[in-house]
Amino acid sequence: MNDPEHSNKDASQDPQTTPYEQLGGASSLKAITDEFYALMDTKPNYKELRAVHGPDLGRARERLFWFLSGWLGGPALYVEKVGSPMLRARHLPFPIGEIERDQWVTCMVEAMTRQSVDEATRDRLAPHFYKTADWMRNKAEDSAP
Ligand code: HEM
Repeated sequence: MNDPEHSNKDASQDPQTTPYEQLGGASSLKAITDEFYALMDTKPNYKELRAVHGPDLGRARERLFWFLSGWLGGPALYVEKVGSPMLRARHLPFPIGEIERDQWVTCMVEAMTRQSVDEATRDRLAPHFYKTADWMRNKAEDSAP
């Protein structure tokens, strides 16, 4: 399948082990998504990414956890609770360019690192996060003069 929302099946080292399990299941994934938004909220190098969001990150934090649970091969919480992710459409109200994409991916890798996800798992997942974040871009970039 070419849809980046559903293309993460090969992110696992062992085909028997889902990325969700590799990360340590629900509690680890929750800690990673909490860390992700805490970093976004506080670190200056994520300020453009933070600025795209509203004052309250609580809704996005909860929903990212639900989404990633299913995307990584665990329980499909987002589909159960919300419905079809349609993530690109859901992000259209927010201007997303290369800076926001790159900050999102860097922030996620930093969150995984801080939550002690091993390097091999991080390296395996990072390109999939990048692909999904890149697919979310919806802003014309300034072209060089
Ligand atoms: C590329 C840069 C990205 C930016 C700037 C961005 C920004 C946002 C914003 C502003 C919201 C709305 C939060 C709210 O409703 O309060 C949101 C929601 C969400 N984002 Fe992102 N996002 C990005 C990438 C991603 C990626 C790569 C994923 C998944 C891997 C993702 C998953 C989600 C989910 C699941 C929601 C909740 C959608 C809903 O149910 O309304 N986002 N994002």
